[in-house]
Amino acid sequence: MKYEPVKNIALTGDGSAVRIIDQTLLPGELKTIDLRGRDELYEAIYSLRVRGAPAIGIFAAYAVYVLARTYGQEEFFARLDADCDHLISSRPTAVNLARQIGRMRETAYALRGRAEEEIVSALRTEAEAIHAEDVAMCRAIAEAGLSLLNEGDSVLTHCNAGPLATSEYGTGLGPLMLAAERGIELKAYVDETRPLLQGARLTAWELQNAGIDCTLICDNMAALAMAQGRIQAVLAGCDRMAANGDAANKIGTSGAAIIAKHYGVPVYILLPSSTVDMDCPTGADIPIELRSGDEIRSMWYEKPMAPENVKCWNPAFDVTDHSLITAIVTEKGVLYPPFEKSLKEAFGGMRS
Ligand code: MRU
Repeated sequence: MKYEPVKNIALTGDGSAVRIIDQTLLPGELKTIDLRGRDELYEAIYSLRVRGAPAIGIFAAYAVYVLARTYGQEEFFARLDADCDHLISSRPTAVNLARQIGRMRETAYALRGRAEEEIVSALRTEAEAIHAEDVAMCRAIAEAGLSLLNEGDSVLTHCNAGPLATSEYGTGLGPLMLAAERGIELKAYVDETRPLLQGARLTAWELQNAGIDCTLICDNMAALAMAQGRIQAVLAGCDRMAANGDAANKIGTSGAAIIAKHYGVPVYILLPSSTVDMDCPTGADIPIELRSGDEIRSMWYEKPMAPENVKCWNPAFDVTDHSLITAIVTEKGVLYPPFEKSLKEAFGGMRS
């Protein structure tokens, strides 16, 4: 059955606002919100109403276009650098955000001094191109990723790298979505993904909606599942990949990869080229976002689940060492180690 993707990000009919599915409300409520002011655009990314590396890049591109419409040429250019830098600061790990805002900023500056309608129209065209490129890349990633799996396989997922986090097929979930469309049976064990539960709230919701057999597990159950032979591959997305293949992704990805290596389960990292950062030599050079301890202590619970004010350390991402990755799947196909070489061959000329 043809896969029907959710529309996670779009412009409103009159183009005056960015419309997103508010992901913080899922799975309980499927609600869209319209955003046009600089503070609400920033807040939507920071609070993970829109989230996932490619999705925040696409959203931010539309946001820059909407800022140009909302504030008029004079104020838009007076605040352009500050607004762009502020948006980028909302989520420092995913390179897509800075990269797509960079594209929009360049488009704006290249036309500075021209008629306002011309600038606004060029910004819309650029944002739509960024979105369309992601749709195409996700489709190609799904196809390449599916070639690594066999009918009947069960995969482990971590966080959410599906349509909500990207566009249409998704990255990490792309092979599952494409398999379902083709009637190929695959199953998923879904890590709940503490502390923000993107696996439990979003991946389980997306897979169920697509009719894919999925089983929710706590993050600390992956080792037993692998020891019992329940998992044939780990599929994860990526927020920033360094030139040597080190992959920053949701906190816990690296732990899953270490366990997978122990049990001989292949680890596939699926990402579009907009997530590859050839200017970043290794994972040690990737900034790791730190978030509020309240996400561990009390968020999602009716009552706080830890002593009040207990100290918390809440890094939102970790880096999976390239030595733990079996293959990297991009729109250019499947890349194998040594990744420094295969990434250079595929993306050598690319710069932010
Ligand atoms: O903090 P989030 O929910 O934005 O983190 C997202 C992830 O880590 C995803 O796995 C990632 O963006 C890669 S694929 C879309």
